[in-house]
Amino acid sequence: MPNPDQIVFFDTTLRDGEQSPGCTMHHDEKLRMAHQLRDLGVDILEAGFAIASEGDFDAVRAIAREVTGTRIASLARCKREDIDAAGRAIQPAKLNRIHIFLASSDLHLEYKLRISREQALDQTAESVRHALTYTDNVEFSTEDGTRTDPEFLVKMITVAVQAGATTINIPDTVGYTTPEEYSAIFRMVRERVAGIENVILSTHCHDDLGMAVANSLAGVQGGARQIECTINGIGERAGNAALEEIAAALMVRRDKLPYTSNIRMDQLYPTSQMLAECISFGAAPNKAVVGANAFAHESGIHQHGMLANPLTYEIMTPASVGAGSTNLVLGKHSGRRALADRLERLGHTLTREQLDEVYHRFTELADRKKSIYDQDILGLLKPEKVPA
Ligand code: KIV
Ligand code: ZN
Repeated sequence: MPNPDQIVFFDTTLRDGEQSPGCTMHHDEKLRMAHQLRDLGVDILEAGFAIASEGDFDAVRAIAREVTGTRIASLARCKREDIDAAGRAIQPAKLNRIHIFLASSDLHLEYKLRISREQALDQTAESVRHALTYTDNVEFSTEDGTRTDPEFLVKMITVAVQAGATTINIPDTVGYTTPEEYSAIFRMVRERVAGIENVILSTHCHDDLGMAVANSLAGVQGGARQIECTINGIGERAGNAALEEIAAALMVRRDKLPYTSNIRMDQLYPTSQMLAECISFGAAPNKAVVGANAFAHESGIHQHGMLANPLTYEIMTPASVGAGSTNLVLGKHSGRRALADRLERLGHTLTREQLDEVYHRFTELADRKKSIYDQDILGLLKPEKVPA
């Protein structure tokens, strides 16, 4: 068995992420991202849903052929034709996986699939066995697992484990669960499913209530060791758990989350930026870890603290996630210290009296102008050049 303290990062940016509005990628963009995700250190890269389209099949196959050093997975429903397409698409990869899923909640079984629980169990066993004819690495997901009757969840997982699944994923498909509840589900499964110690348990959380990252970490505390996530948290509706937030939490809170991973932290920001170039939008400015404001400070009190000791208002350095340097933004909330610091960087050391005068002009300008650039600051040194 793998190291019990190691978290396996399963990236689904190119599958669950890509299937959300505004996130479609062309073949070459998927390949470029796949290389970068490998360089980031993800252990498993879900390259797509091979049966979904010819384009997706080709992309999964090209990634399986070209991207080495990580395990390449394709998603498949519990249908022979899906599994066959996934099996053929991943075949060139030395390390590969078929990821099959079937809904487990009564709501999905009755209204979406229109099959009984018994039929679902039969499909589970048959599909896992069929996937094993293509690869020895098969993941089974109980879709809508967090809204599933616990008795049935245990039954379905038992069937998948007996059939030979090597990873069991319990998705919070609609982002409904809470951290406490999610960790309890993993504890229950570990207690009640025979042979569960031989498989890796996995989290897969959506962010409909803004709890995807917290839920993923709670899943780990309940015994999961694989986390499924995406860059910038892209994914269906409100998105998936954000990879960079999970990796940063493991780095910053090692005291509470004593786990290791293969993620190269300095690649987080470059990967986030590359994804923004490939899809229609970037991370929100206030997005944790990789947003434009994640290491920016405008208020005077915070800037004063940052200049005295960065630990006052930053729990990690921007460099530690590959994000360059802290940005002390000058605006109407800024104080004398930050202004003096900026002027010094621009080559001007002022006396106290000069600084008072320039600061006075600065506050007048900041009340009128939302964005203040270095040119504006330099202009403050020459009162006749301050914009009217
Ligand atoms: O959210 C979900 O349930 C999924 C499965 C296909 C794993 O994406
Ligand atoms: Zn999902």
